[in-house]
Amino acid sequence: MKGRVERVKMQKISDDGLLCIVEFSKVPFEVKRAYCILEADPELPRGYHAHRLTEQVIFCLKGGLRITLDNGKGKVKLVLNDKNSRGVIQRKLTWIEMDRFQPGTSLLVLASRDYDPGDYIRTYHQFIKETKKRI
Ligand code: TYD
Repeated sequence: MKGRVERVKMQKISDDGLLCIVEFSKVPFEVKRAYCILEADPELPRGYHAHRLTEQVIFCLKGGLRITLDNGKGKVKLVLNDKNSRGVIQRKLTWIEMDRFQPGTSLLVLASRDYDPGDYIRTYHQFIKETKKRI
């Protein structure tokens, strides 16, 4: 999926601190939920799942990390950090791995659906099975 990572711009304004703004009209799905991951543990990779229906956009507010996205046909690895104001879209049925967290890394995630544990595909084997069904 090289070259096909979709992005959403976050506006950053330096005043007394740093003001970070996302206009929901720029997000290519209706935002139903927002969550933050604050001070991610550098020793603990995250993700290792895909969503059946949920789509997300991930912004790095502080620090940096490596993200691997895999749509079952190809993988792309990218570095997302706080110098980069464009969030990364994880479409549905896209396996995600997040690692190489810098100390203090904090993320903002906007999601298209309410939290639902049944929406998670938690093994790579099952992910490949479900992506093959869609082709
Ligand atoms: P998870 O999505 O597995 O985190 P990550 O992909 O960053 O490793 O979520 C971690 C835990 O938090 C899991 O027990 C589910 C819970 N959780 C909620 O209850 N609501 C939510 O909106 C999210 C994102 C997670």
